[in-house]
Parts: sequence; structure tokens; C-alpha cells
Amino acid sequence: MDNIFTGRSLAVIDDLTIAERRYLFAQTRVLKEAIIANDKETMDRFRIDDPDFGLYEVFLEDSTRTRESFRNAAKFHRSKVSDLAADSSSFNKGESYADTFNTLAGYHNSVFIIRSKLEGVCRWLEEESSLYAQRNGIVRKPAFINAGDGKHEHPTQELLDEFTFLEDNGWEDGSLHLALVGDLYHGRTVHSKTDGLRIFDSVKIDLIAPVELAMPESYRNRMIENGFTVRTFDSIDEYLAQDDIASKWYFTRPQLERMGEQILKRQDELRAKVTFRKEFIERLPAHTKFYHPLPRHRIHPTIPTFLDDTPLNGWERQSINGMYVRIVLLSLIAGKIGNDFAGDEKRTSRNDEEYIIAAEPSSHTAATKEESVSEGVRPIRDGLVIDHICRGDRPADIRRHMAMIIRVMGLDDGKGGEWISTSKKDEGVFKGIIFRPGARTLTRKDLKRLAAVAAGCTLNLIEGGRVVQKYRTHLPPRIYNFDDLSCNNEACISHPSHGEGVPARFERTADNRYACAYCGTVHTFKEIWK
Ligand code: NCD
Repeated sequence: MDNIFTGRSLAVIDDLTIAERRYLFAQTRVLKEAIIANDKETMDRFRIDDPDFGLYEVFLEDSTRTRESFRNAAKFHRSKVSDLAADSSSFNKGESYADTFNTLAGYHNSVFIIRSKLEGVCRWLEEESSLYAQRNGIVRKPAFINAGDGKHEHPTQELLDEFTFLEDNGWEDGSLHLALVGDLYHGRTVHSKTDGLRIFDSVKIDLIAPVELAMPESYRNRMIENGFTVRTFDSIDEYLAQDDIASKWYFTRPQLERMGEQILKRQDELRAKVTFRKEFIERLPAHTKFYHPLPRHRIHPTIPTFLDDTPLNGWERQSINGMYVRIVLLSLIAGKIGNDFAGDEKRTSRNDEEYIIAAEPSSHTAATKEESVSEGVRPIRDGLVIDHICRGDRPADIRRHMAMIIRVMGLDDGKGGEWISTSKKDEGVFKGIIFRPGARTLTRKDLKRLAAVAAGCTLNLIEGGRVVQKYRTHLPPRIYNFDDLSCNNEACISHPSHGEGVPARFERTADNRYACAYCGTVHTFKEIWK
């Protein structure tokens, strides 16, 4: 029987709720004990045991642990496991991701494990593949698991990291104090911690990296939004010069293969700032554990090998836990376990929120009204006036944004003008006004476009000198379905340069900006237009 886990994709860690992850960890604990005790009966409760349950590994970047732990997990399940030889596949003939994965889904494969430089691939394929499945009568909707997408996320690594932290916390999820050390800029494993660590009630994060390898602002800000206490240090030396030192350290590898010439020239200096040295040991609190997603570099490891045989070593067990967590994840996706999951708070949807508010047209004539708020321009008898644009911004910024509104709304033809004004009430507070004479009708889609490009404005439609319709626009919860939207992250699957035909889509963030639905890159509403 199906349960809520069946066929679920995991593009980002937040695709599983906190309660769902806690359930997965509790199950992993049971499985791990069963495997260690060779308790066959319990192991069989997890086993998919279905040679028709096909798992496909598609690794377009190198991997040892993620790929092999999934392969071994699939063997535990006695399911079919295949590997796309990406180097010799039709990717090289310009085939799209959608066509490639639809083809593989057609050969009765239920789970895809994908590692790619392109960010947001799994989210896109999850959306795309349902139509293919419908067209071709494929009953089992394929699930897409992100095994690392560019600099974005690595949700299954996050699962095994969280599991290991809990294991070392005596399964307590009250609080966590964690130092993140190394390449926090490129490291997708540390980016997934932004939402991942919300499983702990109280989180303190110490970011240790030189500016060149620092955690991107967007992730750091979201950690703070998520209620984490965040501190920043330039090097391990600087960190150890103060007294509040974490007892869990998560090291990552400087990802030199992703860096430019300039930074590469300074690699020794940068590496030294995030490499542990012998003399640091005495500064560590009792029971400190070190973790690492691995691989570590054989010549320049940030955790030197002389620490392998010390109680600091948490990274080896962490890596072994990877297989247990992935076995259980597959059991859940196959619907083998999960029926007893107690459920979760319902996710709230902001989709239906109204953001174009019709206002009562004032009884004044347009002429009287416009004269009272603007200088030197004769108001129009028929046409439209978009008022209160970028209220409070600097005049130069307002002008620039009005040019964008004109372009996005197709208002560049015919008569009319735009100006900057201050309202009588707030001298010194600037706003922009665009007016266009002539009869016009605006469809619902036009109004949506206007809200997306000019939230906070007022639209007046004027006939015979009277305002006959008036709307106030607010930031829409989602912006999508317009051809001229584009995510500005060049690594995103939806970026036009990749030609994957993925329509850009954005969701409003807590701080009223717009996150790309695929790669999560955050933009202001002004930055999402081509
Ligand atoms: C990491 C990755 O690929 O994101 N490795 C892993 O999956 N365990 C980290 C890395 O490459 O340094």
C-alpha cells in the first residue's frame, strides 16, 4: 500500500519535513543495529526485494561514496541497479536532460540518483517526468534524488551528517554547536546544512573560512532567518583564539577544481587557514568529534591522517552511516516502510494569496487627483497611470526601474511619459509615475505582470477624466509563466544558456525576495527579468 513517502523526490533537504527526517533517522537506527547484529528478520522488513524496482545512477561529476553507497544499498534491496555511462551517452550529442531521463524512465526505472554541475536538475526532472509517465502509461512515477548539484545542495549527504550528529548527541535534538571549516563557498554539503540543521531546536554555527572560501551571503542569511546563531572566523587560528569552541567540527575540502586562476595561485595560504595542526589539539573541548563528507586530499588533507587513530575521528563512522541512511531512504521511496509514520503538520501554501487588490476609484476626477500629487504635467483624460513606483527609492534608481517596467509591460510605444514626484504628504520621499494616454484594457495576466515588476504601485485606468478602475499591487507569492523571466545563476538548469527549455519560476522568500524554484538563488523582483 502506498504511503506518503512513496515515489518522493529529494532535490533539496527540505523536500523531507523535519518530522519525516526524524522518522527516517529512527528507522535508520533500527536498521543499523539489525545489520550489525545480523538480525535477518529486521533487515527483511526494510528490503524492497524486487528485481523490477530499478535504480539508475547518473553521475556527471566524479564520486566514490555517494555512488557506491547507493549501489550497495540497491544490492541490499536486491533491486536492479544501472549506471549511465555519461561520458559516452547522447548528452554529448546535445540531448536534453528531460529527453535523457524520460528515456531511462521508460525502461522501468523508479529511482534516479543524479550528480551534475547543473543546479536544480532534480526539481526540473521531477516536474517534467510526470507528463512523460502519463503519456506512456508508466505506473510508478520515478523519483529523483540529488546526489550533489553544482554548488547548490547534497541532501543525502545532509541526511547522513544529521544522523551522525544525532548518534553522537545520544539521539538528543535539543541543541547543536557546530564549526563548519574549509571551502564553505563551493561546498554543497555545508549549504544543505542551512535548512538541514533545523532538526535541532537550537543551533549555533561557527563559519571558519577565509573570505575567498566564505559561506555565500544567501545561505548565511537564511541560517539567521532559521534562528541559528552564526559567527564568522577567518581561520582556525583565529577561532581558537577565543573561548567558545564547538565540540563538533565539520571539515570540507578546498574544491580547487572549481576555482579560478587567481585563487589557485594562493592555494597554500588559503589551505593553511582551514587545515588542522597538532598544536591545536589542546585547545579542543572534551569529547570533540571531527567530521568530513570526504574525500580528503591525499597530500593536503584538512584533517591530517595522524588524527585517524584518535577519538576525534567521527568521519569514518559518518561515511559508513551513508549506506544505512541510503538503504532506508530507498525503503521509504519504494513504500516498503513508512505506513506507521504519524504524519506531519500540513505545509502551508501561499499560492492562493491575493496580490492584486481592486481599490475603490475615488470620486474625484483624475484631473483633480493628479494635480494634487504631481508637478508640471497635464493629467490625461483617457489612459493609464501607474503611480507610487519604487516609493522611497533614490530618483536615479526609480528612473532605472521605470525603464524596466516600461519594457516588461510593453509600454514603449506611443504617447505618454514618466516622471518623478514627491507627494504632498511626504516631501523628500520620491516615487515614480508612468502615464500613457489612449484607451487600454489590461488582462489578468497583464496585472500579474505588473505586480511582479512593480509591486507596491497603484494602477489607475482613466476614462473621460475619471478613474474607472484602480488596483494596488503587492509582491506575488510566486512569479512564473512569463517568457522573459530568467534566473541569473549561470549554473542553474533554467538558465537560458543551457537550452534545456526550463521555464524560470520564482517563489517569494521570507524577506520578500525571489528564490529560483530550481537552484534557490535569491533575487530581488527587479533582477528576475531577462
Ligand atoms: C562531496 C561532494 O561531492 O559534494 N563529497 C561527497 O559526496 N561525500 C564533497 C567534496 O567533493 O569535497
